Amino acid sequence: MSELIATGPPARHGGLSPRAAVILTASIAALGGLLFGYDTSVISGAMLFFQHTFHLTDVQLEWAVSAVLLGAMAGSGAGGRLTDLWGRRPVLLATGIGFGVFSVWTGLSTGLATFVIARFFVGCCIGVASLVTPLYISEMSPAKIRGALVSLNQLAITVGIGVAYIVDYALSGAKDWRLMFISAVIPALVLVVGMIFLPESPRWLAKSGRRDEALANFRRLGREQEAQAELADVERVLREETGKFRDLFRPGFRTAVWIGIGLAVLQQITGINTIIYYAPDILTHAGYSSDKAAILATAIIGIVNILTTVLAIVLVDRVGRKPLLIVGTAGMAASLGYIGYAFAHHVMGTGVFIGVVIYIIFFAVSLGPVVWLMIAEIYPTKIRGAAMSLATFCEWGANFVVAVTFLSLLNAFGTANTFWIFAVLSILGLLFCWLIIPETKGKSLETIEEDFRRLGLGRGARS
Ligand code: BGC
Repeated sequence: MSELIATGPPARHGGLSPRAAVILTASIAALGGLLFGYDTSVISGAMLFFQHTFHLTDVQLEWAVSAVLLGAMAGSGAGGRLTDLWGRRPVLLATGIGFGVFSVWTGLSTGLATFVIARFFVGCCIGVASLVTPLYISEMSPAKIRGALVSLNQLAITVGIGVAYIVDYALSGAKDWRLMFISAVIPALVLVVGMIFLPESPRWLAKSGRRDEALANFRRLGREQEAQAELADVERVLREETGKFRDLFRPGFRTAVWIGIGLAVLQQITGINTIIYYAPDILTHAGYSSDKAAILATAIIGIVNILTTVLAIVLVDRVGRKPLLIVGTAGMAASLGYIGYAFAHHVMGTGVFIGVVIYIIFFAVSLGPVVWLMIAEIYPTKIRGAAMSLATFCEWGANFVVAVTFLSLLNAFGTANTFWIFAVLSILGLLFCWLIIPETKGKSLETIEEDFRRLGLGRGARS
């Protein structure tokens, strides 16, 4: 963060220093992340109440809860292509409008069918935002602080989750589940208004042949001196791209595809959302006798998640992505192993809670921010959106599978074994990060692309 706060070159833009202009742009776009966090979490408190309003059976409740994840799969599958065609800005703007409309619709639903449809569309917006927000921020950031700026998105996700917990808690006395959903309209409006004023990504403009606007936007983002050189670099690398999706299956880029999918799936199959979505349940299992204590413990988990993400922002451009991933997955494996041990040996209550907090710390400093960051860095510009779609779709797919199978896993294998399964998957993740992931710290998106291309040429030469 100190990198972010450090003063930039003296030129000023609308009264802002270049660095402030770029941070403001990233922060407004990151509201997409806040809505993602809010809308995936708000349901945990709301479901206690709307299931009574609609008289839901367990199966119907499962549908009501998982509709958003199916929507996110659809949104992430389609969003990349749309943003390659129409630009990053209009898509993010439309997503903000969608968030507003469908959040209100959810809150006003009169029956299960309208509720599920509304949540599905909110999910579509989440899916699109989860992809376009990091993509947009990464394309407009200077290489040196790109990690920190893109990780503002993850910070916003964690804040969104925290705010959802608070809103749920505040409105639970009045059992006002409708207002819990409708509240999302406020950040949605700010996102829409903000996006009206933010510039289009200069890289997207360059790939669309809108050279002058690209140059102007690099300048608007405070890159007075570097604008020409940066644009020349972007254009040089763009000439190497065909813009066809099949580019992704060429040697070199194929590796980028696998890295993106691997990271995205890894982020989910190591169990983060069993904690985020089911923390009160897990803690009640662990012997927390009152719901209130379990909810308070959940709030602490939310705060730790936010604070550690701030630490990640400070570290990501200094120590790099790879060391964070290695340390993070190792710590996650160890803490999951311990949580399993605590359940197996009845070290309940505080023992489990401490294990969960340590797990969150290691996740929030590694897989949380770094996955979204890296999948926004490693693909070629012309098809970056479509390529990110592939990774993000897999991310939401894995999220869905874990969310719908978690309770069955607990029943089938027991709590200890379930956490040990996640521990083993974290160890596999550690090996994946250690052996396969390249470092992207401090490199421009163009240099990263050229590195992958060279990797492919190297392979071609060897074969
Ligand atoms: C993940 C979400 C998770 C959140 C927790 C994000 O990076 O994609 O699935 O709920 O982190 O902070």
